[in-house]
Amino acid sequence: MVEAVATPSLHRCGSCAVVGNSGNLRRSHYGPLIDFHDIVIRMNQGRTKGFEADVGRKTTHHVMYPESATKLDNTSRLVFVPFKMRDLLWLQNEFNPNAKTTSRIANKDLVMVLNPAFIRYVHEAWLENTGRYPSTGFLTVALSMQMCDEVHVFGFGADRDKNWSHYFEELNDEHLGTGIHDGNHEYKVIQKLHQKLKVVFYVPQ
Ligand code: C5P
Repeated sequence: MVEAVATPSLHRCGSCAVVGNSGNLRRSHYGPLIDFHDIVIRMNQGRTKGFEADVGRKTTHHVMYPESATKLDNTSRLVFVPFKMRDLLWLQNEFNPNAKTTSRIANKDLVMVLNPAFIRYVHEAWLENTGRYPSTGFLTVALSMQMCDEVHVFGFGADRDKNWSHYFEELNDEHLGTGIHDGNHEYKVIQKLHQKLKVVFYVPQ
């Protein structure tokens, strides 16, 4: 994290909820539990409107990259994950201080950029190089463990057809899978972290 050591805003937090986009959140009623945390981190197209009972309404941080970008409210911190040249160009374009735009994707004063070296570190040290690179969700779990004393993980897990279905949309592609990420391995690592009391992993029954 570039900003992590530089400003007080990322002083270690007490408790943090990392909210993945899994369809297993539907009818989970986790909303109030998620909102109870000091920091609530969402990601990519993850949204709250219409899903508050299951996913909560609070967002302090939102992790994303250009292809999955969604417009944030004025108080959420954008945690930008660049892993290709085009991503950095997008960032420069979106937050160009000379551009006369009134509607940026996020508050320009609340932007943090994840050092790409962290992506490599997570891929090598946490995932033993499985998958092409870590998913946004797994990266966020690893990042939260650097930032927070307590990490609570919600919204991870493929559906019974092994697809990464989302709580906010019906799955159109029946063979979506987990793409270039090793979703199965990531899930097992989160389970292991739970067993070792490093995170609390919530899986609705
Ligand atoms: O699909 P998307 O990348 O936007 O979802 C955010 C993250 O949530 C994923 O990167 C993945 O780590 C996690 N996820 C999951 N199971 C799903 C959907 C998403 O574990 N069914």
